[in-house]
Amino acid sequence: MIKAVINGAFGRMGRAVAEKIEETDGMCVSYGADIAPGTAAFPVGDSLAGFTGEADVVIDFSHRSQTEAVLDFALSRSIPAVIATTGQTEDEKRLIEAASEKVPVFLSANMSVGVALLCRLCKEAAAALPEADAEIIEKHHNKKLDAPSGTALMIAEGIKEARGRGEVVCDRSARREARGRDEIGIQSLRAGNIVGEHEVLFALGNEHIAISHSAFSRAVFADGAVRAAAFLIGKKPGLYNMEKLLEQGESRE
Ligand SMILES: NC(=O)c1ccc[n+]([C@@H]2O[C@H](COP(=O)([O-])OP(=O)(O)OC[C@H]3O[C@@H](n4cnc5c(N)ncnc54)[C@H](O)[C@@H]3O)[C@@H](O)[C@H]2O)c1
Repeated sequence: MIKAVINGAFGRMGRAVAEKIEETDGMCVSYGADIAPGTAAFPVGDSLAGFTGEADVVIDFSHRSQTEAVLDFALSRSIPAVIATTGQTEDEKRLIEAASEKVPVFLSANMSVGVALLCRLCKEAAAALPEADAEIIEKHHNKKLDAPSGTALMIAEGIKEARGRGEVVCDRSARREARGRDEIGIQSLRAGNIVGEHEVLFALGNEHIAISHSAFSRAVFADGAVRAAAFLIGKKPGLYNMEKLLEQGESRE
């Protein structure tokens, strides 16, 4: 039985992950940490450090400020960590990389298999249409703290990598000049209860193609995070992502 610890257990995603684990054979939640009060069918507390019971993997859907605490917990137990929280600073990203030399760490701003495929298709389109203007439009619920979304940044990085060039521009309203050839624009909308929508536009003079993904339920991300946790068990230290998880699935088929 894989014993999972959830950080941010009472958040929107933490609850969805707990629900998913409950219906997953061979996995259970051994502890949930959250600074917000709440009750659950498993032991809960306000910090990871306060837990002394058994843990095989930690899944984090909390706040980026928790990155160090999550990594410390994983390192102190020599267990893998799934970091699904978004918005990390450069320093926090460096901590993640350093920890991944000692334990397996899964990092993805989007745990959806569909988004992993969207990223792959965008890389292909970016390379095939090097002259096309690339623009990303992302929409999320009005409680989301970070903008642009980690997923939009991940897609932009993929386009940059595929082209070997690119400048991410998130706030066009601050500019008074024409669009640059290398720009990868990101526009963020925050409204209502939108779970997550990403549209990527590749526009040429007389035609454009748009590739889009819509998530209708948080269960999509919870499923991916639980799959990632199971995938990490027994893996060597390293930094893993959805692309690697998909590759493993494909090589098995
Ligand atoms: N990778 C993905 O697929 C994916 C999908 C959805 C959301 N997210 C990200 O996951 C994070 C959480 O999203 P959410 O919608 O569940 O947010 P949320 O605000 O509903 O939940 C966050 C929870 O973390 C808790 N928390 C905050 N600080 C904490 C601390 N110091 N210790 C323990 N718990 C703490 C909060 O009390 C809250 O319950 C965000 O960064 C979001 O962008 C990632």
